[in-house]
Amino acid sequence: MKAKVLVSRAVFPEVIERLGAHFEVDYHDVDAALPPAQLAARLADKQGAITLLSDRIDAAVLAGAPGLKAVCNVAVGYNNFDLAAITQAGVMATNTPGVLDDTTADMAWALIMSSARRIVSADKWVRAGEWLGWKFHDGWFGNDVHHATLGILGMGRIGQAVARRAAGFEMRVIYHNRTRLAAADERACRAAWVEKEALLRQADFLVLLLPYSPATHHAIGAAELALMKPTAHLINVARGGIVDDAALIAALQQQQIAGAALDVFENEPALDKRFCGLDNVVLTPHIGSSSRATRMSMAMLAADNLIAALSGQRPPNLLNPEVLGA
Ligand code: GLV
Repeated sequence: MKAKVLVSRAVFPEVIERLGAHFEVDYHDVDAALPPAQLAARLADKQGAITLLSDRIDAAVLAGAPGLKAVCNVAVGYNNFDLAAITQAGVMATNTPGVLDDTTADMAWALIMSSARRIVSADKWVRAGEWLGWKFHDGWFGNDVHHATLGILGMGRIGQAVARRAAGFEMRVIYHNRTRLAAADERACRAAWVEKEALLRQADFLVLLLPYSPATHHAIGAAELALMKPTAHLINVARGGIVDDAALIAALQQQQIAGAALDVFENEPALDKRFCGLDNVVLTPHIGSSSRATRMSMAMLAADNLIAALSGQRPPNLLNPEVLGA
């Protein structure tokens, strides 16, 4: 008999086909999160699940799904998982690292450039018919990216991919991470480790690439923003909640920093509407990994993890090896 698995929201038909060769698939073929009660109800008789970052998997959900053996997130971040509760329940948890690094690093760069050169505001202004003649002192001065200092907070795979791209702009690259990279990795991305305070004070472009957890909640708040240069730009392609959005709004309103570009927010998609009234911030809807090819790779990797987990193999991206007694 085939194991029963849930796919919690719309992915790609190719992924469902692949899963269908191994499992009886209950597919919520809608690109919207299942309400928590429905998610719990549909997991009740399942051995495995493909979940998205909008699905909360915690002790209450697990209590109602006694046969569950694996939850496989289609994301590198897994703050939608209560990993301790999942491990306690003896359920394997997986994520999708690696396959989205370059696409997300590209997005960080798109946001760096947009914020530095005010691309979104300029586009709106042109469309509004406000451009009446070319000017030299045109009021559209931006900040240079080339030869500036790129600061990266959170130097995992994506941070390193962002850093490598800085070579083309001949930038100085500094980073802060709990653990310092090996010397060879620092050389490969031409990046120097600094204390967090030095990073905040020196960066012209500060890119956040931390995972979200209680330890990184509001890692950037009023005190940190106050240390940044008035000409600096803050870029967040990691997770909402790492930045205190209310503090950032105040800093942008007072032009305490030059600008921000945000792909993620606290309480997304219900972001603080005050962002929308500011022209020194670029806003995108959590699309860091969103190229078709990358989203396909992520979903396929989650499927690989689930197939391995339910066929007695160790899934390639197991987050809690202790459930295997390893
Ligand atoms: C996307 O936000 C991810 O964590 O993969």
